[in-house]
Amino acid sequence: MSTTEDYDLLDDLEAGELSVEFEGQEPWDLLEWALERFGSRLALSTAFQEGDVALIDMAYAIDPGVRVFSIDTGRLPQETFDLIEDLRARYDGLRLELLSPDAGQLQRLVDLKGPNLFRASVENRLLCCNVRKVQPLTRVLAGLEAWVTGLRRDQWASRSDIRKVEIDHDHGAIVKLNPLAEWSEEEVWDYLRENDVPTHALYAQGYTSIGCAPCTRPVAKGEPVRAGRWWWESDAPKECGMHCAIETGGFEHELHAIVGESAHE
Ligand code: ADX
Ligand code: SF4
Repeated sequence: MSTTEDYDLLDDLEAGELSVEFEGQEPWDLLEWALERFGSRLALSTAFQEGDVALIDMAYAIDPGVRVFSIDTGRLPQETFDLIEDLRARYDGLRLELLSPDAGQLQRLVDLKGPNLFRASVENRLLCCNVRKVQPLTRVLAGLEAWVTGLRRDQWASRSDIRKVEIDHDHGAIVKLNPLAEWSEEEVWDYLRENDVPTHALYAQGYTSIGCAPCTRPVAKGEPVRAGRWWWESDAPKECGMHCAIETGGFEHELHAIVGESAHE
């Protein structure tokens, strides 16, 4: 079995240079470069939000064999699955993998904390996100050289300085590409309309960011786009740990009890 050490990875300096080079270029320019360089050692991550489906459309046009994965946390809204079916119909032969959390870890999580643990505390919420999203992500990224995300600088303060090409030191120093980093929400929606891309039905109900059903709600006009995610929390990061390691000091020992020593925090 190969390990990330075998790969022809970029280092931070090269990633920085490439980021500068691709700044001001279109998202598909970066995708084209990345697909050529990494081929099937690259995959798109998708949560089926507006940027994610735009990226699927762009990448499929460049290479219909592009790999796409999504982590099915087990708590996604029905509308997400409806969109998956629309995408499968629209993009013939799309290589879309749905990945589930580890069954044993999930069993221990629910046995220990109950199914709605996320309401009780930020630590519990991060525990749930870790078992349902971060652990499966870590497993899939272990077999890749590069992954693509729909992150944008305009989404939240914690994302305002992301670069288009980064080294993901939380995941084996593989390459992380954010082709939409400099696009605005409006530019993404213009692209979707122009290209008639299928989109998530919950946008029509006032949602502006979509994740798991119990942890996402519509926002009021003028509220930030991520305000509807974990809306009941104050003073907590509006992040789940996929894009940054989150240390609270509060949930790590329980995480070890649930996922064992290999826990990725
Ligand atoms: S999260 O950290 O709050 O969950 P967000 O929903 O903003 O992230 O999505 C940001 C990007 O992370 C998406 O564009 C996608 O690339 C990736 N992502 C988020 N959730 C998933 C998921 N369930 N499966 C795969 N990728 C995901
Ligand atoms: Fe659990 Fe909510 Fe995180 Fe989904 S978003 S993994 S349900 S805490």
